[in-house]
Amino acid sequence: MALIAPFQQQLMATVKAARDSGGPQRAVQACQELAPQITHEHSGGSWQIGRTALRVRNPDNAPDAWERKVLEQFRQRAAAGEQLEQMRYAERVDGELRLMKAIPTAEACLACHGHAVEPELAALIDQYYPEDQARGFEVGDLRGAFTLRRAVK
Ligand code: HEC
Repeated sequence: MALIAPFQQQLMATVKAARDSGGPQRAVQACQELAPQITHEHSGGSWQIGRTALRVRNPDNAPDAWERKVLEQFRQRAAAGEQLEQMRYAERVDGELRLMKAIPTAEACLACHGHAVEPELAALIDQYYPEDQARGFEVGDLRGAFTLRRAVK
């Protein structure tokens, strides 16, 4: 959990700074260029950190079988009334400790992940991510999850 907060903050601050300086299009470029780099930088020490989702924008973020199972489980837990904010799951799998924490969709995400993405922005997203599946979300939907793993003896 201590690794997730600064990772999330840096992603958000990077998007916000890019949007303030060059509008939503610059923000998409910042996500495209910098999100993988920020992800790499935060995979410090023994933990590897990333983001995944059932519907991804960047195919590099596609879930593996275990992550898919946990995301499905998060969706069911949310449907049963549990809040996404605190939702997490950890398990020891094949010599690794694996952990996921749900990411809810917030108002600030809709410009790029909502139903009504502005045409210019949508065109840019299509250009970078021709197979984008990460649109059509509403506030409170499960957008995805942080995913962490490290080897255990
Ligand atoms: C300026 C546009 C923009 C905004 C605003 C934005 N995103 Fe994204 N998002 C992107 C782009 C571009 C990617 C692909 C970048 C990558 O991870 O390589 C992405 C990727 C993601 C991913 C990784 C899984 C995937 O689909 O590839 C998650 C999770 C995510 N965004 C959640 C959020 C949440 C939650 C918010 C609001 C708090 C948000 N995003 C706001 C553009 C945006």
